[in-house]
This record gives sequence, C-alpha cells and structure tokens, in this order.
Amino acid sequence: MKHTRRKFLQNCASSGAVMAMPFQLRLARASGNEFELIAEDFKYPLYEEGGPESDLWAYNKSSPGPEIRIKRGERVQVKLVNKLDVPTTIHWHGIRIANNMDGVSGLTQEPVMPGSSFIYDFTVPDAGTFWYHAHHKSWQQVARGLYGPLIVDEDTETFDRAHDLTLVLDDWRLDRQGVLQVDSLGALMDWSHAGRLGNWLTVNGTSNPKFSLNANEPYRLRLINVCNSRALDIDPGGFDAKLMAFDGMAFQEPEFLEYGPLSISPSQRVDLLVVPQEGKNFVIEEVSSDQNLPIASFSVSKNPDSSDMAVPALPQNNLPEPDVKNGRKITVGLTGGAMGNFEGIVYKGKKLSGEEFQQTKQFWAMNGVANLTEKPLFSARKGETIIIETTNDTAFFHAMHIHGHHFKILSGADEGRWRDTFFVDRTQKTTIAFVADNPGKWLFHCHMLEHAAAGMSSWFEVV
Ligand code: C2O
Ligand code: CU
Repeated sequence: MKHTRRKFLQNCASSGAVMAMPFQLRLARASGNEFELIAEDFKYPLYEEGGPESDLWAYNKSSPGPEIRIKRGERVQVKLVNKLDVPTTIHWHGIRIANNMDGVSGLTQEPVMPGSSFIYDFTVPDAGTFWYHAHHKSWQQVARGLYGPLIVDEDTETFDRAHDLTLVLDDWRLDRQGVLQVDSLGALMDWSHAGRLGNWLTVNGTSNPKFSLNANEPYRLRLINVCNSRALDIDPGGFDAKLMAFDGMAFQEPEFLEYGPLSISPSQRVDLLVVPQEGKNFVIEEVSSDQNLPIASFSVSKNPDSSDMAVPALPQNNLPEPDVKNGRKITVGLTGGAMGNFEGIVYKGKKLSGEEFQQTKQFWAMNGVANLTEKPLFSARKGETIIIETTNDTAFFHAMHIHGHHFKILSGADEGRWRDTFFVDRTQKTTIAFVADNPGKWLFHCHMLEHAAAGMSSWFEVV
C-alpha cells in the first residue's frame, strides 16, 4: 500500500483496485413494514478489499446500514437493538415525524442503553430520499459508521429499481495504515475549526465504485452526504445531469443547474436525473480542490432490448405553504469558532471566558448561547408561520438543520427551494420560512457534527 503519499482525499483519485461492487443490501425487513437494526461493532476494510480492518460501529454489519424502503403514507416500525458498549438512538433525518419518535437523546427520548432495544413506530408523510443516523454523540457515532439510507417511494411507480440508485457519500479519516482514526475523534482542533474532515471518500462503503448503465434510459441517482462536516461539490452539468429533488422534495420539473458547482452540505440530499448516452462514460467528481476527485464512475452501454423510456415525473409532497406576510420573524446569529467572535458566549447560564472555552469545548453559539438551554429558542403556536433569518458571523460556513419540518428558502443559497438543511456561508445570511405544524420539541442545529457538539445546537417548541 502506498499510503505514505496519501494526502487530502488524494488516493480516491489513484486507487485503481476498486471492484465493481454494487451496494450490498442486507435485508433489514422482518415482515411487512417491520425492520430490525442491530447496532454493533463491525470490522471492515475501508481502504481496500482484503486490506487492514477498521473498527466501525454499524447497523446489521454494514455501513451504510441497510436501505429501508417504504411507501409514502405508510406506517413503519423499526426495532433498534443496541449491542454496542455505549448508549445510542436513531434519528430519521428529514422525516416530518411524531416528536417522540425523532430519536434525539436528551430531548425527545432517553438513549437506548447497551443491551436494550427501542421500537421506532411512525408514518412517513413525504416521498423522497432521506436517511437515518445515530443521534447520541453523533460526532462520534456517525463518524464510525452508524447511518443508512431511508427511501420513501411515491404512491405510483416512478423509476424502477434498476434505474434508481442510492449513493451514500462519506469521508473517513484514515491513518497511514489505512485504518480509521479513532483517537482523533473529539479533537479540539476539529471542534473549533471546520469539523472532522476525512481523507478517504467512499460511496456505499467503497472508494470510487463502478456502475454500468444502459444508454438512453433515464436513471435517478440519489446522493446523500453523510460526512460529519465536509460539503461535497459536484458539477452535474459536466455529465448532463438535471436536478430532480433536494432533501427529498421533488422539483416541479427536472432542471439543469444554472449556477455551479452544486455544493451538497453535510446531511443534504440531491436526486439527479441522468439519461446516459452511448459511448459517453462519465464520472461524478468532487470539484472543490484544484484536483478533481472521482466519487463514482459510470460506464454506459447499449441495451439491445431497450425501448424508448419516458422520464417518470415525480409527484410533489404536500408541504404546507408558509404565510410569509403574516409570519413571525426570528433572528439567529451564529458566532464563535476559531478566528471568530466569542463575545459574551453563555454556556449553562454562565458567561465563558479564556480557558473555559477549551475546558468545556464550547466554541460556538446561536444567539450568544452555546448548546441546548432549558428554554427553547422560540415557542410557536401550532400552525404559525415562522421565518428564521440566520446571520453567520463566523469564519466558517454552516449547514443548519431543522427537525420535524421542511422549510422554504426565502433568500440565500437555494432560494425558493424546500429543504431540511440550509447552507449559510461566512458573513452571509439565509432566511427560511415554514409552518410550525408539528407539535413537540425540535432541534435546530448545525449538521457539521463537531459544531453541533461544540455549541451550535438549539431547539424550539411547537405547542
Ligand atoms: Cu441529521 Cu439532528 O440530525
Ligand atoms: Cu457549523
């Protein structure tokens, strides 16, 4: 292994020894819509087949965990069995779920202790691309592999399985032997800067997997960014792809991206429409550094039996339209972080100073407060439109996620789109609006998981 020369994600580009391994789905379905997810230790050769094994934590001995697939409007029951040595929970990211099933340890449920189990029982109101992940010390548990895709099918058949591919994208931090670095989890440097960034990119657990597609047939590619803190930039126009959905919510019509590249923030999803052309193999690349890095490679060949296939339309979800004129405006200021403004940050009711930032590891704040407080950031009446204007006064970008609701972006990145996580760049402002129609206590936090743990977490309630 030539690992001594490994640099920032670089071997993704040069590793030729990757096999054509389709995403192996391990069956999670017990019966009907009942599933079982067993969280346990899992040894896995992340760097290459037959290579040194990393100590992952995973669901059903697979990272990503098994794809859970259900239909819009259905009820689903998932039994989480905790065979880890640590407490855990599961959060169903992007699902407008009943509050007591949201899986946030310390806010909506007690963590599931080692040797115990918990049954998540909920209905899925929206079709689209979602995911599930641990929500107890997520910065540690997601980094070690506790996540998987959750796909909700539309009421009517759209893309069949052969034309519907899920790509779960993760960046792992490997050491020089090609083994997942566990000691550096929780490093102050990551918590106060850009979060934990990996150096090894995988799709469904494999570096630069190869897919074969048929020419002239429409495909839906569901990209899910499960990285702890890395935004992944891709250029869909570079392989003639259109955008079909963001964070599970279908566009009216597939659209070419007018700006580029497309940045997929941590936890965000994008569904792409690709109609590959004969003789035009293509590669989805990460384009944020000076050297493009392959994410996944696609070879295209003609299928002799193929007949003309229309592009299936994706039906819309029934999201409540915010009443922006009469909405209540909440302003949120993000502060703190390396090279940032620490003025007056309060943690557990006490103003932090000097070394206390290091001792508590609380470096970030929302409206001057680090981490969850006793009192909610705001309290909404059920049915009220809430407008949140978030100003980023830090030296880093952030990816802010709201639980239990989807929102419309009024201004800022992805203006006009529905999302569950929004991007707010340095010194910029993003404004969103949503109908607070889901009763309960909901988190509002940065989905760069180190930032969330280091203070950039808050919550609101709907009563
Ligand atoms: Cu994807 Cu609070 O989480
Ligand atoms: Cu952040």
